[in-house]
Amino acid sequence: MNNQFSEELLRLYTAKSKHSAYQQLPESLLSIMGYPRLEVVRRYEKERFEFILESFSLAHSSILDIGGNTGYFTISAIEHGADHVDYYEGNDNHANFVYIASLALGIAEKIKINKQYFGFKLNAVDQKQYDICFCLNVLHHLGDDFGCQSIGLSNAKTKMIESLDNLAYYVNVIFFQMGFNWKGDRNIPIFENGTKKEMIQFIADGVSDKWEIVDIAIPENVNGKIKYKKASSENIERNDKLGEFLNRPIFVLKSKVISER
Ligand SMILES: C[S@@+](CC[C@H](N)C(=O)[O-])C[C@H]1O[C@@H](n2cnc3c(N)ncnc32)[C@H](O)[C@@H]1O
Repeated sequence: MNNQFSEELLRLYTAKSKHSAYQQLPESLLSIMGYPRLEVVRRYEKERFEFILESFSLAHSSILDIGGNTGYFTISAIEHGADHVDYYEGNDNHANFVYIASLALGIAEKIKINKQYFGFKLNAVDQKQYDICFCLNVLHHLGDDFGCQSIGLSNAKTKMIESLDNLAYYVNVIFFQMGFNWKGDRNIPIFENGTKKEMIQFIADGVSDKWEIVDIAIPENVNGKIKYKKASSENIERNDKLGEFLNRPIFVLKSKVISER
């Protein structure tokens, strides 16, 4: 431990909850914390962020991070030149962790911590506009982490599309990713056969009025390393060897609402 914040950061990171130990930590924070041994399930933040950087420059951008968890994308975005991030996270420990991390890293003035579940409501007239939104692995928790708990799957799917559509009024580009299992429960598949093609069809059909799909990236194992690559006939099929998480595409969507204004 080599920093006044390290002990509290470690306490908050290791506090157990549904989505704890989800994200790895950025190198800068690990260094401040003295490289603690953390048990993290791999969800390829570095590889996902690399894909984001290859797609768009974050320099001087304003960012909305919905379901920011322990801040990998929020902190990395600031470290790669974003002007400001509005971070939303409904879990107090995660949000407190990111707040203290931002102090420890000296970037607190660039991050607004919103300790709350984002409502995905249609914007008010004075809604703040964002260049980029990260909405990664949040919407399949509609009806569980947030939203009406008694909703059924069919209505939840309609609400997921509505939620994305509403963002098109105040977000220019969104990086979007979702899971195959509703509420993270493998007994409730969102799509009948659990395939990428079904998920892509669901998004393409659902959001076509409000969003243009500019890219779809799919993880591939390239010589033992995971790399997000353009969707193609080679990587589009469900690949059970990679596990559920690495079958989730990342969609890059551009708002038609904002570009038509
Ligand atoms: C499965 S994790 C994904 C974390 C991160 N976005 C990623 O892909 O690495 C979902 C996170 O979003 C939070 N969450 C779920 N619904 C949310 C909402 N409506 N607003 C803000 N946070 C939310 C959860 O508490 C959890 O930390």
